[in-house]
Amino acid sequence: MASKPKFQAIRGTRDLLPPDTALWNRVEQTAHEVFSTYGFGEIRPPIFEATELFARGVGGDTDIVSKEMYRLEDLPEDQSARDLAYLQLMIHSGSVSSAYPDQLAEFVGRVQRFIEGYKVARQRELVYHTDSTDRRLQYIESHLEGLSALQNEPYDAKYQNKFDETVNYFKVEIRDLGLTEPKVLRPEATASVCRAYIEHNMQQMPQPVKLYYMGPMFRRERPQKGRYRQFYQIGAEILGGPDAPAIDAELIEMLMTFFDKCGLQGSELSINSIGHAADNCRRGYVAKLREELLKVKDKLGADSQRRIETNPLRVLDSKLEHEQPIIAALPRIADYLCDECKTHYAAVKRDLDLRGVQYRENWRLVRGLDYYMRTTFEITAQGLGSQNAVCGGGRYDGLVELLGGPPTKGIGFAIGEDRLILSLQETIRASGSDSPLGTSHSPLLFIAWMGDEAYAAAVRAAKNLRNAGFRVELPATELKFGKALERASKLGSRFALILGDNEVQSGEWTLKNLATSEQQKLSEQALLEYLRSL
Ligand code: HAM
Repeated sequence: MASKPKFQAIRGTRDLLPPDTALWNRVEQTAHEVFSTYGFGEIRPPIFEATELFARGVGGDTDIVSKEMYRLEDLPEDQSARDLAYLQLMIHSGSVSSAYPDQLAEFVGRVQRFIEGYKVARQRELVYHTDSTDRRLQYIESHLEGLSALQNEPYDAKYQNKFDETVNYFKVEIRDLGLTEPKVLRPEATASVCRAYIEHNMQQMPQPVKLYYMGPMFRRERPQKGRYRQFYQIGAEILGGPDAPAIDAELIEMLMTFFDKCGLQGSELSINSIGHAADNCRRGYVAKLREELLKVKDKLGADSQRRIETNPLRVLDSKLEHEQPIIAALPRIADYLCDECKTHYAAVKRDLDLRGVQYRENWRLVRGLDYYMRTTFEITAQGLGSQNAVCGGGRYDGLVELLGGPPTKGIGFAIGEDRLILSLQETIRASGSDSPLGTSHSPLLFIAWMGDEAYAAAVRAAKNLRNAGFRVELPATELKFGKALERASKLGSRFALILGDNEVQSGEWTLKNLATSEQQKLSEQALLEYLRSL
């Protein structure tokens, strides 16, 4: 059995390889084209951002923020601040976990230097600090006094306990001092786009501002088919302007047009309205839901029981078989929407009808991020197993304001590109046909050259044909005729161009169709014309 290679892609990440990447590129190209016809421009936000952006934006209690974000350990740029960071890392990494009396003085000295250095760095605004970090520093100082006092104590179990306790305490406090602003790999990009909208004063531009993005996102989820720790999204956001239902409907129309152009089959659009956060709307519903859930608490699983308190709406997401009849009997949000949200939802549906967009209403569609209000939607596709949501989105009118910007309407979606590709590949496999996007990256023409003169002609011909846009494979070393044809077939090439001494001298090249074995003689110019005519 072959042994495992030393280095492998980290669990939940993967290499995207040819020929698959050709399909990825076509899908992305289609997104560029379709989205631009709807007036969207591309934004490329950074891949890491302040932790706080997502904690506030997506919500501190959501799974994404509370469990799934990848935190970055980042060192400050200034040398003195860097020394502090090393101390912090050293304490964390556990290299200080017990101390004999002779090490205690050194450790105390190190922490003292840390405190002094930190104060200097703070004064020079080299570290990120708030009232709470200032308080933390005071606690550390007072604990350090206790630790110094140990120096006069006998070394015994009590001494060791006291020391360990204090070091553990330092670990937590020094970590939370946040020597640099805490950063994470982005788990999604809606919060980033809102941050950019505020940062670049986009409210001054003609509203609404329409932006789209594509790129990797990171979530520490349990990997399985269609679920990765590094995955890719193609998303679009509309910020500013009115919250007219036509905006929701046009965005969804654009999404469905894009899926259509990609050749996605068996997709289903589900929509819902989750109202807005007011007592006479969603809050009232959530209170009622909680009340009803408490009545059936004993029949629910542990997760749902917990969610009754933390976020009863999420109970509606449950996939547990035995909870389904219970959930089906729960009150539905549509009956609790305020008049404005009800009218908005009805108008979105009317507008979707007008555009010929087919949808299914799903009152249980609540979505797992805190920022949503009113319209929410999700699209599922075939061939994906349990992870069958290829896209999720919705309206989030309060988000920009929550992140420190002016009151701004917002709506958007994100497509899971990995899942979209999986579903497209499934369709291609099942039908045995090519996707409408075409994925072949096999050469059109393989140049079988023999001899130095033929090589020179082959190099020139390859350059000209490639310039004209044809996929050409030129072997780097001379191959025997049979070998060359074999290689051309293996690569899936449609033609072989045979260039030997005879061909070079006569200026009549031989083109062989590898499927039919037909051969024809063509001049260089005629070859170009023939290929163009295909
Ligand atoms: P989301 O529902 O968390 O929404 O993610 C959107 C899509 O990303 C999902 O439907 C799924 O296709 C894909 N996805 C999520 N997690 C993974 C994963 N671990 N592996 C593979 N694919 C995954 C958002 O992210 C919102 N920012 C969407 C949005 C934009 N709402 C308004 N604007």
